[in-house]
Amino acid sequence: MSSSETESYHKIRIPARTPPSGCPIDHDFTTFTPSYLENPYPELARLREKNPVFYSEKLGYLVVTRMEDLQTVFRDHEVYSSENVQDPVFPVCERAAAVLGAEDFNPVAVMSNRQQPDHTRIKKYTMDGFSGRRMKVLEPYIRRRSQELVDAMKEKGGPCEFVSAFGHPLPGQIIFRFIGFDEADDDLLISWTSNRLAFTWGNPDDDEQVDIAENMLRYWRYCREFVAKRYKERADDFTSELLNAHDADPDDLAYREVESIVYGLSFAGHEIVSNYLSNALLCILPRREDWTAICEDASLIPNALEEVLRFESPQTSWRRITNVDTSIAGVSIPAGTQVFLSLGAGNHQPSLFDSPDTFDIRRKNARKHISFGQGIHFCLGARLARLEAEIALETLAKNLPSLDLVANQTLEYSPNITFRGPKELLVTW
Ligand code: HEM
Repeated sequence: MSSSETESYHKIRIPARTPPSGCPIDHDFTTFTPSYLENPYPELARLREKNPVFYSEKLGYLVVTRMEDLQTVFRDHEVYSSENVQDPVFPVCERAAAVLGAEDFNPVAVMSNRQQPDHTRIKKYTMDGFSGRRMKVLEPYIRRRSQELVDAMKEKGGPCEFVSAFGHPLPGQIIFRFIGFDEADDDLLISWTSNRLAFTWGNPDDDEQVDIAENMLRYWRYCREFVAKRYKERADDFTSELLNAHDADPDDLAYREVESIVYGLSFAGHEIVSNYLSNALLCILPRREDWTAICEDASLIPNALEEVLRFESPQTSWRRITNVDTSIAGVSIPAGTQVFLSLGAGNHQPSLFDSPDTFDIRRKNARKHISFGQGIHFCLGARLARLEAEIALETLAKNLPSLDLVANQTLEYSPNITFRGPKELLVTW
């Protein structure tokens, strides 16, 4: 692969997948079965007990399930590269590849799939942007939008579809304000970015791939125009901070890197938080005594949300690829092995969490989950995600203490290897 391919944000070539010799092989495991999509945890527990590391023939990945092994992989970025984390799981059809082959579609890998030493060089600028100061600037906006969305729900009356009424718009609008996009473009931006996860982590058919690829191209062009506008006229937003840093040292933070950070961030910070909010309601609302306790005492919210990240995380896996021959949990694996990190299996490990399949808003070590990863690629948006979810839950508890799930609804989960949250969630009050 040429260096420009290595640095490209979207690598659409998929490396050959062969099982490492001597490794236990599972012929059935895949994340696309109805039972996994409905509830992955019983199967993950069985697999972890049988063989903590195994090769999934259907996925073409070495699957790692124990917390200690997940931590080893996350921490050793020299052996386990993150360069595959934005690669599509399944081959991209020619028509979609042609769309992304447009000459001006050239975002570069900047964070999750960028390697050292560049990753640390770039991350220091983005971490400045996610500082406490910017969270303070953003907090009143998060409070205002949460309140407005709840008011709109109340005005319309229940039952209400929570994802479209609150869970999806809120994090989208927050990340767009954080970046600095114009509020008038919100609906357009949401429509361009909403189905993006299927492209990389799902198994969309050819027409869907083309549709998503066209939106990715439109969105990239929008980001480039936006950064060019901000280049001329700065504001109090994250993009302006990045451009100021670029001006101060253009060799250390390239202009194309600024464009690519803006492009990647809206996705990284949107759908996952939407799923986080839905999962929080799914966990808490059926346990009425917990919801009542939260309505009476908002100080219970932060730990309850950590328990949501442990028990029903919006991100149940992540990926790596080995740079060199190595071994894990006694299994030898050659360079080039694709690794599937089952965060969900680690988060439900009984040796670490008492009664792991019980949801407990007061669990003392809830924060020991691995849902934000670990090591140099630790989630950049963890602080923002926590702040958004806390304010959202606080606002819902204050305004709708009788909030409840609509009984007997069937939830649908989008088939993919990594993200988890219902497509729709009916609530009432
Ligand atoms: C509950 C919500 C979220 C979860 C569970 C989550 C989870 C993760 C995970 C597992 C990683 C990979 C860590 C690793 O490779 O070690 C990651 C990376 C990242 N996340 Fe999040 N994330 C969330 C919200 C957000 C938000 C709101 C943003 C941005 C606004 C964001 C931006 C990023 C970025 C930029 C990276 C790459 C960091 C790097 O490579 O240095 N995430 N996230």
